[in-house]
Amino acid sequence: MSGTRFEHKTALITGGASGIGLAMARRFGAAGARVAILDRDGKALAAAGKSLRAEGIDVMEVECDVTSEKGAAKAVGAVIKRFGGIDLLANNAGITQRSLCADTTAAVYRKVMDVNFFGSVHCTLPALASLIERRGTIVVTTSIAGIAPLYGRTGYSASKHALHGFFESLRTELAGHGVKVLMLCPSFTATNLQKSALDGRGGINTGERGIPGGEDTPEHVASEVFRAVAAGKRILVLSRTGKMSYFLARFWPALYERIMTKKIRPEFSR
Ligand SMILES: NC(=O)c1ccc[n+]([C@@H]2O[C@H](COP(=O)([O-])OP(=O)(O)OC[C@H]3O[C@@H](n4cnc5c(N)ncnc54)[C@H](OP(=O)(O)O)[C@@H]3O)[C@@H](O)[C@H]2O)c1
Repeated sequence: MSGTRFEHKTALITGGASGIGLAMARRFGAAGARVAILDRDGKALAAAGKSLRAEGIDVMEVECDVTSEKGAAKAVGAVIKRFGGIDLLANNAGITQRSLCADTTAAVYRKVMDVNFFGSVHCTLPALASLIERRGTIVVTTSIAGIAPLYGRTGYSASKHALHGFFESLRTELAGHGVKVLMLCPSFTATNLQKSALDGRGGINTGERGIPGGEDTPEHVASEVFRAVAAGKRILVLSRTGKMSYFLARFWPALYERIMTKKIRPEFSR
């Protein structure tokens, strides 16, 4: 997929009813793509679909919980049936967790992996043949926590690192078929993600959190994704804080851990 227009192309975006997913739907839709937004909350989907349609975007709402393998296969099948195929799959639906490991149950870790990791696998498998046929692109929303450690987010960070292992390996299998994989690593972004952040027992963590470097906007993330997809990029690391974290964690990991821990740990001692 190349160029700056996406007419006659289809984008399927999971977590498309909110935040970064909705902004991506708007951005690709504005460039002419037919957009399928997949999300688990029917009401939120309907509202998002309505707002996109009002902007002239050809949109399909698909209610689906990505943790269901069967549900995801059915949802992807419905999109292919309606639009004829998939040119861009954005595996973006996700949840977060904020709790120290000592206070966290295995069930919470499993839940985070189910949504963030297996949810992406569930949506990718039934879309593969179509993506290959159309020499399409897979966008995977990971995080700076997917390329560096993050204090108090062992489960979230593990799920995002797992996405890198899976999709960067998959990229090597798909390269010969002309399918691109873009790993999207946003930094802190102003969305609804924190409203449902899990605590260590599976409840909601409503505590304050540190946001070193401030927050990006979903619209800015989406416009950078659009450019990166058009340019065929492999990885997109966003924000100054994100880029510094990426390089520090790679080349001076102990220094990165010290700085990051100092900034984030106070969140857990309030
Ligand atoms: N915001 C940040 O600071 C940030 C930073 C780095 C990476 N990210 C990543 O960006 C992605 C998008 O998140 P966001 O920040 O835009 O948050 P968001 O506004 O909460 O959007 C995420 C969407 O995914 C949906 N979702 C959650 N679990 C799902 C499931 N099992 N099946 C289907 N849909 C599900 C959510 O639905 P509900 O509202 O019903 O939960 C929500 O509509 C996530 O993968 C997140 O990890 C976010």
